[in-house]
Amino acid sequence: MLWKIGIIGFGNVGQGLAHILNRKKEILKRRYDFEFIVSFIADPVRGSLYNEEGLDLDAILKEMAQKGSLKNRPEFTDKGTLELIELAKADIVAEATITNLETGEPGLSHIRKALSVGSHVVTSNKGPIALAVDELEQIAKNNNVYLRYEAVVLSGTPCINMVMECMSGCDVKSVAGIVNGTTNFILSKMEEGYDYPEALVEAQKLGYAEADPTSDVEGWDSAVKAAIMANLFFGAKIKITDVSRQGITKITREDVLKAKNEGKRIKLIAEVKRQGNDVIASVSPHLIPMTHPLGNVIGPTNALTIATDHLGEVTIIGPGAGRIETGQALLSDMLAIHRFKNA
Ligand code: HSE
Repeated sequence: MLWKIGIIGFGNVGQGLAHILNRKKEILKRRYDFEFIVSFIADPVRGSLYNEEGLDLDAILKEMAQKGSLKNRPEFTDKGTLELIELAKADIVAEATITNLETGEPGLSHIRKALSVGSHVVTSNKGPIALAVDELEQIAKNNNVYLRYEAVVLSGTPCINMVMECMSGCDVKSVAGIVNGTTNFILSKMEEGYDYPEALVEAQKLGYAEADPTSDVEGWDSAVKAAIMANLFFGAKIKITDVSRQGITKITREDVLKAKNEGKRIKLIAEVKRQGNDVIASVSPHLIPMTHPLGNVIGPTNALTIATDHLGEVTIIGPGAGRIETGQALLSDMLAIHRFKNA
């Protein structure tokens, strides 16, 4: 089968996915028998493109690198994203827009629409999954398509599908981890002697933190990931606002250095655990011994310890963001759908 792919959102992640698809086209065919064309790219800022015979990814990526816009390409279309989803009826839609964490929009509407017209969806979008995973899974089921979202926690580092699929049959007792790379980078810089504002500026310079860093440093990004894990791994029904949350803005260099002298590190930990019949999700700074796997995670890296009945503790450490890393998660979900449909 020739898969027709649509990419929604052509920022870092959408371009990262396009880059991998372009570079690995032959290998994907040879190794996985995965053959594809990209029939549309929808991005309201950079420009949307549509060609049902398939777009030239190589030329598109070069144009993006040079001009930062797709508006001069021959396949340019001024059709809106929802209209394109309906018109193109791609086999798989990759949704990678920047979405409001509270409303889930515009990603939520894109995913609803794509599933409703019979497209499988892979997404890196946390908001829609945190807010409406049950509703979206139901739409997918009604339309006999798959919805996958490996990228939403730890980007391409295996996490969601590792727990949901590779660990199925285990009871997950708790998860605790560093699920935000920006704050871990800032805390690591503070251990090198930077104070908080200097470390934040460094994180912004390197492109980890946004100009408005609130979502990362106040713990919102970690909280949305905690809510997603609570709902998926523990069957909870919680929202981001149900996660108790404290960020890193009040931590001083002195706090970090004092911890270091005691053989510990301050880490922003997202934790989900059962308490009686309840599932409790929190985000807050913890003192972690350097001898613990989470205590040795330095820089913009993520890590998660999953405590289970059959396997004890499993810790995964790896990147939690980045264009290629997140693109990889989207690709792995596409290949899983390809496997399921060919089984
Ligand atoms: N801002 C996030 C981080 C990106 O720093 O980890 C991935 O959600």
